Amino acid sequence: MVLVLDFGGQYNQLIARRVRECNVYCEIHSYNISLEKIKEMNPKGIIFTGGPNSVYGEDSPRCGKEIFELGIPILGICYGSQLMSYVLGGSVKTAPVSEYGKTEVLVNKNSLMFGDVSEKTICWMSHTDYIEKAPEGFQVTASTPVCPVAAMESPEKKLYATQFHPEVMHTQEGTKMLRNFLFKLCECSGDWKMDSFVDHAIEAIRKKVGDGKVLCALSGGVDSSVAAVMLAKAVGKQLTCVFVDHGLLRKNEGDEVEAVFGPEGPYDLNFIRVNAQDRFFAKLAGVEEPEAKRKIIGEEFIRVFEDEAKKIGTVDFLVQGTIYPDVIESGLGKSAVIKSHHNVGGLPDYVDFKEIIEPLRDLFKDEVRKAGLELGIPEYLVYRQPFPGPGLGIRIIGDVTPEKVHMVQEADAIYREEIAKAGVDKGLGQYFAALTNMRSVGVMGDERTYDYAIALRAVTTSDFMTAEAAELPWEVLGKVTSRIVNEVKGVNRVLYDCTGKPPATIEFE
Ligand code: XMP
Repeated sequence: MVLVLDFGGQYNQLIARRVRECNVYCEIHSYNISLEKIKEMNPKGIIFTGGPNSVYGEDSPRCGKEIFELGIPILGICYGSQLMSYVLGGSVKTAPVSEYGKTEVLVNKNSLMFGDVSEKTICWMSHTDYIEKAPEGFQVTASTPVCPVAAMESPEKKLYATQFHPEVMHTQEGTKMLRNFLFKLCECSGDWKMDSFVDHAIEAIRKKVGDGKVLCALSGGVDSSVAAVMLAKAVGKQLTCVFVDHGLLRKNEGDEVEAVFGPEGPYDLNFIRVNAQDRFFAKLAGVEEPEAKRKIIGEEFIRVFEDEAKKIGTVDFLVQGTIYPDVIESGLGKSAVIKSHHNVGGLPDYVDFKEIIEPLRDLFKDEVRKAGLELGIPEYLVYRQPFPGPGLGIRIIGDVTPEKVHMVQEADAIYREEIAKAGVDKGLGQYFAALTNMRSVGVMGDERTYDYAIALRAVTTSDFMTAEAAELPWEVLGKVTSRIVNEVKGVNRVLYDCTGKPPATIEFE
């Protein structure tokens, strides 16, 4: 096990992820964890993360020099490297200008950290303070023209430090460096796999929950499904899953969720499906404004969930399928609200619970999927495309009615079916049908029609923050169009959305 000590840097989870990618188990803990606790954990190595502070700041996170005397290999990154230098008697200075971005670094290949790294290698820098002089007993193992100590080490004391960030992709040989630290210096075995994470998490949940009662709001999405199965495996019938069907799910989705989690499914838990369609449609009637719709759906979701929770009474724990990217998104708080996201941090006010359990809080999406497969969750659920909390409510422009939901469900099912049949789904980040509120004139048979237009969207994206419209083969679009106008009553036109994000968003509202 490798211990990552958090000094407040923005790449902490990325460090943990890189370590896991090397098949080494790791845990992130606060920098102020006690020395006793560290000894008890007995890690093979410790990594100090970066952080926004200066070692000279009054409230800066610090550590004593005892941690450096444990004989455990330590890698300090950025702020972590400056702290190592500061605590051990080196000197740290503030530069007149920050060093930021890709930087060519000259490394000493005699260092075990850099033995297989090119002598001149591109690394990612992001710092203002720098180590001016390494502490006694350390040798400098990398430098740049403006950063005299870009890396330093004391192999005798097993202490290593880099001013740059080996964990980010822009550090071209960063993975090699981390591997060297983990395997050559910490002597990790590299036999950890996602199933160990799952086993470990299940064991930890069992210990925490004891004989307590647990409640989980299940949406049927990947994250809440993986969290629910993990809990089910850990505590079985002590878990109750409440699945709120707001009537805005994709075609057959509610039944698919019930097939997995309901009494016919493989898990031994209490499953409650609340068919709340009518409540949602009543609240949404006549509402056209996107943000108003989002707020209504989010609010109503919580109210329905609360009503069910009240019936259950006091529970000890509430499960949330929060994953790491949600933590960053909801933590930012400074950027303009483009859309108010439903199911990120939306906690019910009146549910009586003592503590929240978030078993996926440290994982990235692809890691959650891996954990899901380890848990034996069906692939079609694990690889489901992202689906927004407000569901089809925001894929129907303007007011929402059951008839419109039916139209968009049918059109979307056809679209997904044809894309899968043609095998063109690989590489697509998201693809779905939406119902515009545009009606236009058409002709069917010899009759005039005045019906709705469906918009098809397909995007490629790596992070959903930006996206490109995908170039789907014309024949696939033709087939989908023809099927939609023939099979979906009330639709006489199909449009393809060619807009990227920005300026459009992926969803229509
Ligand atoms: P936009 O439309 O903002 O969407 O480009 C980016 C990604 O976020 C998803 N999305 C949501 N996910 N709750 C969610 O859990 C929401 O309220 C929500 N709104 C958008 C969207 O599907 C896309 O993947």
